[in-house]
Amino acid sequence: MAWQIPLTTPEATQQFGKQLATALSPGGVILLWGELGAGKTTLVQGLGEGLGIEQPIVSPTFTLINEYCEGKMPLYHLDLYRLENASAIAQLFPETYWEGEEVPPGLTVIEWAQRLPYFPDHYLQIELLFQQQARYALVKIVGDAEIPLINLLEQWMLLKP
Ligand SMILES: Nc1ncnc2c1ncn2[C@@H]1O[C@H](COP(=O)(O)OP(=O)(O)OP(=O)(O)O)[C@@H](O)[C@H]1O
Ligand SMILES: [Mg+2]
Repeated sequence: MAWQIPLTTPEATQQFGKQLATALSPGGVILLWGELGAGKTTLVQGLGEGLGIEQPIVSPTFTLINEYCEGKMPLYHLDLYRLENASAIAQLFPETYWEGEEVPPGLTVIEWAQRLPYFPDHYLQIELLFQQQARYALVKIVGDAEIPLINLLEQWMLLKP
């Protein structure tokens, strides 16, 4: 299943993230695709707001992983942009976050997910795109899908760009 969702302003991207956070459960994974400045971190800021995280969500480009533990569930925010090869990424053990055994189960969100050498069994793939000034998200569910999530995506897809 795939949805194309118009995200005309940064506020829309943030609002979409905020609502997504309410439709996901601990153990959920969002893999983000999209060029530099496509809006990936903006979406994660919305997710943080939806989880009730008050700490500012900042890009983990240099820290690689930021963990926020004050919200409805932990938010694990990873950014693979600076990691050149698969072995550098494997050494981060990204599966620790989505398996949620060594850390409390939470929402794992990964920017530049195309660099992952292996993927979780279930995840939401969100590609942020801009074409001729129009911005939108292409969303795919890989593996199991929860009904509230599907309902949310259906609603957002119907919005006029
Ligand atoms: N519709 C939109 N959705 C999201 N961001 C937008 C939109 N329109 C303009 N912007 C602007 O584009 C920028 C997106 O930056 P952001 O850090 O979220 O991108 P990113 O994909 O995380 O980049 P990077 O690859 O560097 O991590 C922000 O300055 C934001 O205000
Ligand atoms: Mg970013």
